[in-house]
Amino acid sequence: MRDITNREDLLFLMEAFYSKMLNDEQIGYIFTDVAKLDLAHHLPLLADFWNNALFHTGGYKNNVVQIHKNLDALEKLTPEHFKQWQLLLGETIDQNFKGEIAEKMKIRASQVGMTIQAKLGHYS
Ligand code: HEM
Repeated sequence: MRDITNREDLLFLMEAFYSKMLNDEQIGYIFTDVAKLDLAHHLPLLADFWNNALFHTGGYKNNVVQIHKNLDALEKLTPEHFKQWQLLLGETIDQNFKGEIAEKMKIRASQVGMTIQAKLGHYS
């Protein structure tokens, strides 16, 4: 297995990640019923976010904390939701890639998750 190298890899990962999440008993409904996401719009933004977070490419300008604050106002995001989100991302990464960037992505996801949760004010 090889490491993550570019935006194309990240878009592929996001597609695989979301196909797990949308079918997940615990958190699937947040994407399908609460946010009612248009994946054709959403997944490229996630690829941009990760491309910048991992490869410092620039090009991502949205406020991730505010986006999740808005979502939390519609449906409370719990520590269990965050745990499940992170578990599914870790699984998706490990099933498809291996290496330094793959490890960095898991750590970064956990850090951003902690930051969002701290700003939502519900630390477990
Ligand atoms: C409970 C866990 C989470 C849930 C249920 C969740 C769900 C969502 C949803 C539904 C959106 C779209 C909001 C909208 O546009 O209306 C979103 C956006 C986003 N999420 Fe999460 N999220 C979670 C945790 C995280 C974490 C830990 C990260 C860390 C990297 C993350 C990264 C992003 C990014 C970058 C966007 C914004 C994409 C854009 O620019 O529009 N999410 N999330």
